[in-house]
Amino acid sequence: RLGKPLVVAIDGPSGSGKSSVSRETARRLHAAYLDTGAMYRAVTWYCLKTGVAMQEAAEVEKASREVDLQISTHPDHEQVTVSGTDVTQAIREPEISSAVSAVATTLGARAELIRRQQQIIADSGRRIVAEGRDITTVVAPDAEVRILLTASEEARLRRRGLQLGGTQSQQDLHNQVIGRDAKDSTVVSFHEAADGVFTIDSSDLDFEETIEAVLAVVRRAAH
Ligand code: DC
Repeated sequence: RLGKPLVVAIDGPSGSGKSSVSRETARRLHAAYLDTGAMYRAVTWYCLKTGVAMQEAAEVEKASREVDLQISTHPDHEQVTVSGTDVTQAIREPEISSAVSAVATTLGARAELIRRQQQIIADSGRRIVAEGRDITTVVAPDAEVRILLTASEEARLRRRGLQLGGTQSQQDLHNQVIGRDAKDSTVVSFHEAADGVFTIDSSDLDFEETIEAVLAVVRRAAH
């Protein structure tokens, strides 16, 4: 496989550990890393910043086309900028998390972001790990390695709760994790593996065990 670009596509719901697992997998493989969720978040930031009416699909789509969005694909350098403004931290704010489904469920905006993501993957050179909700099915259905990273609802709620510092009520947590996935599921399917996609259930795996499971799938595909 030397010389042939290797694409590792990883999808999964919120709280599955997808982002941290994908980033670490990229480090171990000396690969680039693409967090596609960050791109949906950056478009959402831009919409809120410029006063786009989030319920107007045409406006959201237009915003997704005109936004000057740059995202680092180095796994050790997390950076997202919009028109040169660093929004890396801002896009993680609860205000963005609650508004992002409006962008994710606007099909015209998805088409534009999918196009940009495919371009980034094509330009990435030798190896890239790309993660999101529709990478294995839509963005990179021809990827050499395609994985659905799942976890039980209980495990996902527990992880997201820990991530947020345990300050959230169970109800808020449930709305954020399960509620957002339910909204997004109306346009993308990421709860079941598509044909040829390998499922890893991380409910009973720790971080290192999950990385090992992902790397085992990569090794098998590369031989
Ligand atoms: O993974 P995340 O929480 O950063 O994702 C942010 C939002 O973007 C979430 O509502 C799901 C959506 N998303 C998507 O629809 N397709 C992707 N490939 C990645 C994220």
